[in-house]
Amino acid sequence: MSGLSRRNFIKVAAGLGAAGALMPLRSFFSGSHLKGLSADLSAAPLLAGGSGTKPLVISTWKHGLPANDAAWKVLEGGGAALDAVEAGVRVPEGDPNVMSVGYGGLPDEDCKVTLDASIMASDGRAGSVAFVQGYKHPISIARKVMEATDHVMIVGEGAEEFARKNGFQREDILTDAAREAWIKWKQKMSEEDDWFPKDLDHDTIGMVAIDAGGNLAGACTTSGLAFKIHGRVGDSPIIGAGMYVDNEVGAAAATGKGEEVIKICGSFLVVEGLRQGLSPKDACKRALERILKKHGAKPTFQVAFIALSKEGEIGALSLQQGFQYALAAGGTNELVDAEHLL
Ligand code: GLY
Repeated sequence: MSGLSRRNFIKVAAGLGAAGALMPLRSFFSGSHLKGLSADLSAAPLLAGGSGTKPLVISTWKHGLPANDAAWKVLEGGGAALDAVEAGVRVPEGDPNVMSVGYGGLPDEDCKVTLDASIMASDGRAGSVAFVQGYKHPISIARKVMEATDHVMIVGEGAEEFARKNGFQREDILTDAAREAWIKWKQKMSEEDDWFPKDLDHDTIGMVAIDAGGNLAGACTTSGLAFKIHGRVGDSPIIGAGMYVDNEVGAAAATGKGEEVIKICGSFLVVEGLRQGLSPKDACKRALERILKKHGAKPTFQVAFIALSKEGEIGALSLQQGFQYALAAGGTNELVDAEHLL
């Protein structure tokens, strides 16, 4: 297998944040919703009783549970969705055991950890950074780009310089565990070129939320594809690809192989589906089908979307089995197995 085809493996990562501090969702939502319930969620339009559960936060993978806890603290206090999503995704960003986001993220092929992140507010403002080294919390740098400049995206050394000038603290974010994983990858790649950490089971955190006032926001942050070519940027910092918010209709975020998400403007496409009247799950399905259409053979990579409508209706769907999302509403927080297309 060539070096490039080796990189076709979707990055997932080890580590699990603390379990959600909120009550299990199962005890809040009546009946059969939960494990394996994403289909039910989009069929049953609104959570917890029919007309727009607010506030609500949904995020990708199991590291979404502690992230949701932090977001929920903001939302339950009447805080803004924008503050909630930033506070939420900062949790896995700062957790060295989450090896796909922020501090502790797996490095690129040169053993450098490079981070991507984006944030979007209900008033349509957006900020993002990409290919950032030496900072634990790219989401907060992205927010600073959004709030302190008239730019949307700053990358690489420029983003690092911007962070430094704005008081962010530079740190070594390569952990021993991530360095060891890189060494193992280097050692194995010649004899078994498609080696990839098999025990890693999550990826980017994308989070979308609606606050008590009915306003939406989204955030997305990642260390990107493990052992990627130095300089590679995925979907997460690209507004409309990794995450998108339109306060009139809804919000969406993506996880999985960023290249595939970029090529279809994935999160934007999901939100446009909502605008056209699709349920959140069907909007995710249409975007995934767009990806499938571009691939003759059954793809082996993973892509998943989460979506949240302005009415507080949620949906999620992945290409492959194994995607989970965390859903917090009404004081509960639970990991849900998403349906998959393939
Ligand atoms: N979805 C994250 C990435 O591809 O970088």
